[in-house]
Amino acid sequence: MIRFENVHKTFGQQHVLRGVDFSVDKGKSLVIMGPSGSGKSVIIKHLIGLLHPDQGSVHILGKDVASLDQAGLQQLRKDMGYLFQHSALINWLSVFDNIALPLRETTSMSKNSIEAKVMEVLGLVKMEDARHKFPSQISGGMQKRVGLARALVTEPSIILYDEPEAGLDPEMSASVSHMMRRLKEEYGMTSVTVTHSVNCALTVADTLAVFEHGRFLISGPPTEVLNSDHTRVREFLGAPID
Ligand SMILES: Nc1ncnc2c1ncn2[C@@H]1O[C@H](COP(=O)(O)OP(=O)(O)OP(=O)(O)O)[C@@H](O)[C@H]1O
Ligand SMILES: [Mg+2]
Repeated sequence: MIRFENVHKTFGQQHVLRGVDFSVDKGKSLVIMGPSGSGKSVIIKHLIGLLHPDQGSVHILGKDVASLDQAGLQQLRKDMGYLFQHSALINWLSVFDNIALPLRETTSMSKNSIEAKVMEVLGLVKMEDARHKFPSQISGGMQKRVGLARALVTEPSIILYDEPEAGLDPEMSASVSHMMRRLKEEYGMTSVTVTHSVNCALTVADTLAVFEHGRFLISGPPTEVLNSDHTRVREFLGAPID
């Protein structure tokens, strides 16, 4: 479903991706952890075609992302939800309109069906009451949930989460992680998640990969990775879990 093959990316002197390989099968969840500034968001941006590899390839749903024209990219993005690291809501649109936007732009759904769908995803993130508010009138955590609702509204088969728990309190962070797991279990969504939260990784990952210096240091089932004796992985993740 998702395949990264020997991807290299350099910005100026900085070789951020140095031969990155991974694949994610349908309905599976890959979680990527790694130091700040290592290139995790750069990986996610390759998946939605915001960046292209200098070398190597990125395939999604059988298509080479770099070879798609604007229309092809738009088609692909309909199948992909993206929760940005910073919620990236549009400040002059209400919560409701922010979520309705992808439907208005990419479908010919009627006004009533759009309203029903928006209310459904607002219900999923428990934000129905905030539908008339503007992004500046709700907290960072609430903005994150609205961002999640917006990522889900087109019913994508793939969803990308860039630090979904950042800026959330522990309870809300756990609730977002459980929502992510539910989407996988109930809707069979395929996902790639970047996170700094071990709890989030444990809740959602089928495969956990640790990224540093342009490559994956290790990848495997989360409990295995979290208990690995790889020196650098231990330094980064801290004490093994039980
Ligand atoms: N479009 C770009 N142009 C130039 N440099 C970039 C670009 N995008 C990312 N970089 C650089 O690539 C490196 C990796 O950035 P990235 O945002 O992927 O880090 P990250 O692993 O997501 O970090 P964090 O955990 O803090 O979000 C950084 O040094 C960044 O400055
Ligand atoms: Mg990032």
